[in-house]
Amino acid sequence: MSNLSQPLTIAAVGCGSRARTYSQIAASLGDRYRITAGADPVPQRLEAMREISDNPEFQGFDSADALLAQDRLADVLIIGTQDNYHFEPAKKALEKGYHLLLEKPAAQSLEEVNELARLAKKYDRKILLCFVLRYTPFYSKVHEIIRSGRLGDIITIHAAEGVDAWHHTHSYVRGNWSRTDLSTPMIIAKCSHDTDYISWFMNSRCTSVSSYGRLSHFTSAHAPEGAADRCTSGCPHAAPQGGNCPYDAHHYLDKHARWLRMVYPHPTERNKDDIIKWLESSPWGRCAWKCDNNAVDHQVVSMEFENGNTASLTMTAFDCAATSRFTAPKPAFAAATPTMDFQTKISLSATTTAEKLKPSRSNPLTMTATKATAAATTGWSMRWMPSSAETAQKAHSSNTPSKVT
Ligand SMILES: NC(=O)c1ccc[n+]([C@@H]2O[C@H](COP(=O)([O-])OP(=O)(O)OC[C@H]3O[C@@H](n4cnc5c(N)ncnc54)[C@H](O)[C@@H]3O)[C@@H](O)[C@H]2O)c1
Repeated sequence: MSNLSQPLTIAAVGCGSRARTYSQIAASLGDRYRITAGADPVPQRLEAMREISDNPEFQGFDSADALLAQDRLADVLIIGTQDNYHFEPAKKALEKGYHLLLEKPAAQSLEEVNELARLAKKYDRKILLCFVLRYTPFYSKVHEIIRSGRLGDIITIHAAEGVDAWHHTHSYVRGNWSRTDLSTPMIIAKCSHDTDYISWFMNSRCTSVSSYGRLSHFTSAHAPEGAADRCTSGCPHAAPQGGNCPYDAHHYLDKHARWLRMVYPHPTERNKDDIIKWLESSPWGRCAWKCDNNAVDHQVVSMEFENGNTASLTMTAFDCAATSRFTAPKPAFAAATPTMDFQTKISLSATTTAEKLKPSRSNPLTMTATKATAAATTGWSMRWMPSSAETAQKAHSSNTPSKVT
């Protein structure tokens, strides 16, 4: 890395939503970072990156190959291309001597992941994989509480990932991760964050996994009667015709406008007529039941860890928010008070700031020992629940580099 008194220099291949978000944060931190170069075949995205860099010497390229054909242009290269194009640029970049800020998934196969690890070792380069949840105050706090031992020895984790139906159609029905053959399967594309934090909290390597999933709802068999192939083709269920389809693409213009930023070619300019025109031909204007998607809309996973612990994860398109329950056996001292079962619930809101997370009775992080009802579980458990995708999103955008897929 460069001398700490010098700014760390950054270049990016793929100047899409993620790379721009990281670069904006870097640019906002004064002299600590300097953005020197970017590559993207979409000129508007490259220009947006040039603007973010605020660097008159910024060098732009129309492809990762073109950037990587140059001598090394920065200390760190952000790999912000889509899932199916991480390995190639990452491999070349390591060979060129870049450290990597590599978007998840690292690559598309275990062989490729191992090869990147081998190259990083060979060239003594660092790879920071973007499991951004680990760096949020919220997840860090949960991790700290578990590690402190206050909950006892966690033996099992029960986690759920409610993607949210609009998010699901945006990303996994109409969008970049709808075709697993062209991208990565849901369990990697969406749930690698969940499986990562589960392993992180468990502090052990997962040794065995079984999983079932299926695409059940977003198929043509479930399309409402008379639905058009596109929301903008006079579909009777779309808003202009007085319809109230929850997945009507016209909502990119109003209540779901924030999703547009991530996929609309021009990152800053918005004009209603242009957006409608774009929806008429873009994947995001298609009927949510008439796409070529094959990503599952529900999946369950069972995991066993090296230390003998277990975890389960359920993903569904139709819930909203992530929940986890950590269970540890009843602490030994509870046996001294046989008339009481202890059930400790720690409720953390994802919107809670790190400062508030001081354990006291009046704070959001409270510990209470209650007389359990017959139905209640014995032992200590912890449950946290972001109140909605919206608040989780707010927390992520204020606390972390960006949203979570
Ligand atoms: N860590 C997280 O929480 C998180 C969240 C969302 C997405 N992601 C991951 O980040 C990656 C990028 O996602 P995104 O939403 O920013 O995608 P995006 O589509 O907005 O950005 C990808 C960019 O790569 C560009 N590109 C395509 N071919 C290229 C080439 N040959 N050379 C250079 N650039 C090229 C595209 O034009 C596009 O601008 C994906 O792998 C995704 O899974 C991670």
